[in-house]
Amino acid sequence: EKDKELIRGSWESLGKNKVPHGVVMFSRLFELEPALLNLFHYNTNCSPTQDCLSSPEFLDHVTKVMLVIDAAVSHLDDLHTLEDFLLNLGKKHQAVGVNTQSFAVVGESLLYMLQCSLGHGYTGPLRQAWLNMYTIVVAAMSRGWAK
Ligand code: HEM
Repeated sequence: EKDKELIRGSWESLGKNKVPHGVVMFSRLFELEPALLNLFHYNTNCSPTQDCLSSPEFLDHVTKVMLVIDAAVSHLDDLHTLEDFLLNLGKKHQAVGVNTQSFAVVGESLLYMLQCSLGHGYTGPLRQAWLNMYTIVVAAMSRGWAK
């Protein structure tokens, strides 16, 4: 449907430059919720924040996040096949101290990155399409917190 076209069309260009776009997204995330930086233990004593953002371990995580988004975009027709993977990914994030509420802020940061990179291409329907996909991904990850 229309949502999938919008997502695939926009990811076609963004997906070629995953790391820089991921850095924009996470810079925004740490601006909105600086405490999240402490969950990355390899970054406990770097300041300013910008130094953390260029550490190899951090860029590694950014790359991992972008690859998960890439997988979701590739599986728009059968997102349910990622359920087990995402549930386990959620469990890992619970273990490192992430709170499910933070995923809302991650979502905002994702939209911010899309807006920055797409400019006029960032339309209401496109925003909604991404939000819908992100909500499915986060719902699956959040099941990892269930007791
Ligand atoms: C692993 C933090 C959001 C994907 C990790 C690790 C930390 C972490 C501390 C373990 C160390 C590492 O592998 O670098 C966070 C924080 C987040 C966040 C604070 C924001 C609230 C996300 C999101 C995704 C993601 C949104 C993907 C949609 C991954 C992956 C791994 C990982 C794929 C590797 C898991 C593995 O080792 O199997 N994350 N993360 N993270 N994160 Fe995140």
